[in-house]
Amino acid sequence: MQDFQGRTAFVTGAASGIGLGMARALLDQGANVMLADVEADALAATMSNLASADNRIDSVVCDVADAGAVSEAAQRTFDRFGNVHVVCNNAGIGAGGMLEDVKPETWQWVIGVNLMGVLHGIQAFLPHMKAHGEPSHVVNTASIAGMITAPGMGPYCATKFAVVAMTEVLALELEGSAIGASVLCPMWVRTRIQESDRNRPEALRNPVPEKFDPARREEMAQAIENGMDPAEVADRVLDAIRANRVHIFTHPETRALTQDRFDGIMGAFDAITG
Ligand SMILES: NC(=O)c1ccc[n+]([C@@H]2O[C@H](COP(=O)([O-])OP(=O)(O)OC[C@H]3O[C@@H](n4cnc5c(N)ncnc54)[C@H](O)[C@@H]3O)[C@@H](O)[C@H]2O)c1
Repeated sequence: MQDFQGRTAFVTGAASGIGLGMARALLDQGANVMLADVEADALAATMSNLASADNRIDSVVCDVADAGAVSEAAQRTFDRFGNVHVVCNNAGIGAGGMLEDVKPETWQWVIGVNLMGVLHGIQAFLPHMKAHGEPSHVVNTASIAGMITAPGMGPYCATKFAVVAMTEVLALELEGSAIGASVLCPMWVRTRIQESDRNRPEALRNPVPEKFDPARREEMAQAIENGMDPAEVADRVLDAIRANRVHIFTHPETRALTQDRFDGIMGAFDAITG
């Protein structure tokens, strides 16, 4: 897909951070954009900030963990704009703790949003994209935590590795079609991800939250505060769609970290092949 002018995009997690960055970039390129988010107030505020493009934007409150809600949001988008060409399954949350300590509620929340949320987007839009047959693209937001691991990030890494795997499978399944698939794997980006708990459903709150090393939490908060501008991430995403590139990396320093992981894996093969 080369041109976004007059095309339509659906972006989840569009009221903040990377999702908002992608929505803005798509609007700048002349696309219609449906903004989807679970946080109604932030979504309304985003809509008024983007008011100058108001004939090309609309919004829908939608919890991506709920397959029915995502189907309804998709139908609202078809009714409002017609054919949809870009779907950014981006909504995600950060939560975790050491594996021995992570509660079932936390697993359910992280899997529901970060993994099933992406699948729900694929299932709600792919049959429609195949039916209209115009050039289209699915972008799933994973993380560099879908390539490398870190202590205390079990649920996050497990879901982000799964999003990488699912997107690679999707790209294979779509080979030769007019639809591309990409997975976004950024490192630190300046967003509100550290405040993810603001969107945690009451039923999935733990009476005793998982322990997380306060020094590590502070380090991560600093890294995010000094992180990449979401607008720069969004530019990389649009470039990757145009190039039909499956993996989207944003931070050159993560190349060495990824290489280290693969070196370790190859070392284990060396151990059996001499
Ligand atoms: N910020 C980073 O450093 C970073 C790095 C790698 C990957 N990511 C990924 O980027 C994506 C976007 O996160 P962000 O950093 O912009 O954080 P953010 O908190 O600024 O934005 C996330 C948005 O998703 C929405 N959201 C949360 N739960 C939802 C749900 N159940 N249904 C619909 N919307 C929901 C939030 O309301 C928010 O608007 C996530 O998938 C995250 O894992 C972020």
